[in-house]
Amino acid sequence: MRSVRLLSRKNAIYLGLGALTGIAALGVGSRIREYTQIQALDDPTRDFTVVGTATLKQRAAQKGLIYGADCGTLNLQSDPALASLLVKECAMLVAGFLKWDQLRPTADTFNFTRGDWYADFAIKNGMLLRGHTLVWHESLPRWFKETVNSQNSQQFLQQHIQQVVGHYAGKMHSWDVVNEVISIDDGLPNNLRQTPWLEFLGPDYIDLAFRMAAEVDPKALLVYNDYGLEYDTPRNEAKRNAVLKLLESLKSKGTPIHAFGMQSHLVGHETQFNPEKLSNFFQNIANLGLKILITEMDVIENKLPADLAKRDRIVAGAYEDYLSVALQEKAVIAVITWGLSDRYTWLSEFYPRSDGAAVRPLPFDQNFRPKLAWNGIARAFDLAPTR
Ligand code: GLA
Repeated sequence: MRSVRLLSRKNAIYLGLGALTGIAALGVGSRIREYTQIQALDDPTRDFTVVGTATLKQRAAQKGLIYGADCGTLNLQSDPALASLLVKECAMLVAGFLKWDQLRPTADTFNFTRGDWYADFAIKNGMLLRGHTLVWHESLPRWFKETVNSQNSQQFLQQHIQQVVGHYAGKMHSWDVVNEVISIDDGLPNNLRQTPWLEFLGPDYIDLAFRMAAEVDPKALLVYNDYGLEYDTPRNEAKRNAVLKLLESLKSKGTPIHAFGMQSHLVGHETQFNPEKLSNFFQNIANLGLKILITEMDVIENKLPADLAKRDRIVAGAYEDYLSVALQEKAVIAVITWGLSDRYTWLSEFYPRSDGAAVRPLPFDQNFRPKLAWNGIARAFDLAPTR
């Protein structure tokens, strides 16, 4: 069941691409076209020079921005080198595992052990902490299906938010209250995704979740988070419009939502990047009085050339191009990468390379050495206007 969901998520990111990818699957001629376009993304003369020795968190802070990362609880607990790199480079730690299946072994019990380790780590190291996520159609525990129904769902949602948000109240910089509830494929009104919560509670569950969270932790920044919005493709465009509509409707109802989380799982071989479309989207969100966080940035690189230098340049270029545009919008307050080192990334499992080579989607390599991707991010921070 999980793999089916994951597969569909995978397709969703790919289907968001331009015609290029779809056509390329059809024949040799189109494969050559695809190959040529991907090669064209590489500019061997591109300059990734970075001035000075400041870390990413220092460069971000100079512009009033927060740089942080999600690292996966087990990795952080078991790998001291990762932990010290994180403390050095990041001002924010994302507890991206605070999901139902991790927190609720049974319908009646909560397990905060790992979350508490994370919270202590963040406090001890003077880092901000960010929670992810309270309402999501994935990562639901096995018991959910047999136990939760339209009669008791509101009670379950309320109990979950009260317990979890309550447990970390006062410690969280922000919460992804609701994750990924827009789907342009499900054919439902307002492009809402078919989720158990929608089935049980109707469309108001989104507003309800924000209200519940605001009541329990009035200080945390409350975020709606989504993916598949970054490129100039018809699917991404349709999804951007649907997300904007959702945000508008929440704001018009007085929902206590404070920010939008743009996941930003970038696609290294995507050629349809349109700065103007991205700026307009961000500006529309900012006009609603919302802040913006780049919440899960990495670069899917499984279709890029095997050549390490080329691959690293294209990935670095994707980071820099995207962030240079995104950070022009002053409503953007934080940049978070979904991982820090290539040693630990969900992409090795979900977007592996067909040549068997290890993927290189993050700012640091497997041995914690900074790559050109680090430079791409650093350069974008250095160029960003101050908040
Ligand atoms: C989504 C979720 C994250 C994480 C990533 C990839 O973007 O929001 O929690 O699961 O997928 O693993």
